[in-house]
Amino acid sequence: MRIYDIIYKKRMGKTLTKEEIEFAINGYMSGDVADYQISALLMAICFNSMNEQEIFYLTDAMMRSGDTVDLSRFGNLSVDKHSTGGVGDKTTLIVAPIVASLGCKVAKMSGRGLGHTGGTVDKLESLNGYRSSLSSNEFLGQVEKIGIAVTGQSGNFAPADKKLYALRDVTATVDSIPLIASSIMSKKLASGAHSIVLDVKCGSGAFMKNEADAKALASAMIDIGNKFGRRVRALITNMDVPLGNFVGNSLEVYEAVQVLSGMGEANLTELCISLASNIVSISLGVDIDKAREMVEDSISSGLALNKMKEWINAQGGDISPLNEPDLLLGAKFKKEYKAKSSGYISKINAECVGIASMLLGAGRAKKDDIIDYSAGIELKCCYSDYVNQGDTVCVLYTSNDSLFNACEKKLDEAFSLSEAKPESNTLIYDTL
Ligand code: URA
Repeated sequence: MRIYDIIYKKRMGKTLTKEEIEFAINGYMSGDVADYQISALLMAICFNSMNEQEIFYLTDAMMRSGDTVDLSRFGNLSVDKHSTGGVGDKTTLIVAPIVASLGCKVAKMSGRGLGHTGGTVDKLESLNGYRSSLSSNEFLGQVEKIGIAVTGQSGNFAPADKKLYALRDVTATVDSIPLIASSIMSKKLASGAHSIVLDVKCGSGAFMKNEADAKALASAMIDIGNKFGRRVRALITNMDVPLGNFVGNSLEVYEAVQVLSGMGEANLTELCISLASNIVSISLGVDIDKAREMVEDSISSGLALNKMKEWINAQGGDISPLNEPDLLLGAKFKKEYKAKSSGYISKINAECVGIASMLLGAGRAKKDDIIDYSAGIELKCCYSDYVNQGDTVCVLYTSNDSLFNACEKKLDEAFSLSEAKPESNTLIYDTL
């Protein structure tokens, strides 16, 4: 077999076999296939796509390039969720304790943030003492005991994806449905959960800019999961505007506590209830209406918030801010950002808000940057609200007041105002 022939075959729009896909991936990992050859193959896939069977073989080859977690001891109860990325997306902090409080087993590995999107591990580490590198025994033992553990990625999961992603990032081959679907699912499958709920974002702040593409991506991921014997459901959700009212690490923990206390922003609360209900429904085998009732009860009874405290405490984190959430809004400097004119808010560009928050210290521009956990942005107005010139649109939080200027400049790009009230936004387009 020659990599040249495989590249040529895909370039001509033909279907690759299992052996050819494995040859390319294994050869790339061993160094027998060069970066430029894989780049050419990736570009051919971008142009000519892959069928379901090819995507399955590609996912399988990437998953088997590294470690896998065995969660079989938890049977059908092991669950995971994945979001295709967004600004202000703190849903894991909320959904994980809800479903754990109802008997699901959450053994979750999460990432750190880079660029304008935040990472769950960074948000959790804003709580003093939180340990995000558990040994495998600690991790599984904690799931067994309290039903939930969330750790950073310590193992060598799907290293082929890591290598391929780095190449895609610099060769304009990221936004291809077969490549995104296989990339995400190779990692999810390696993490071992039996039931997986995917939050596929759609809109200006997401990879998928329209509903049709988001659905095609969701269907491809569901098909892969089912071929591996996992239960998968996908929600297609809006990412035209940031999720919730807070962006930034300790600020997002604050907002998670608000939702679990029944006082959360409406869209964020609804999305979390929907994600949690779907997880409970597929893993415990109850219908979706019953699952929703269970989820709502878990929030209103305080069960879910107690589970969050139990989880943070088990991983060494300080739970006093969970009892007194205002402590999470304690940045050294705060500044109001005001409307420059009057009108309805017709756009809040999620990516710009994410970058503005990063510029205050809440995120990393480069992998090794140090995060200011107290930094971030509180949105005081929502999409379609009317604002008068001079009204406070956001509050900026940081430990370094020399950063306000750059952040404000970025926020100037984030908001658009219109004379007419814009149409209301759809939160959840569909569930597949
Ligand atoms: N997230 C991933 O993990 N992979 C992609 O290809 C895109 C988003």
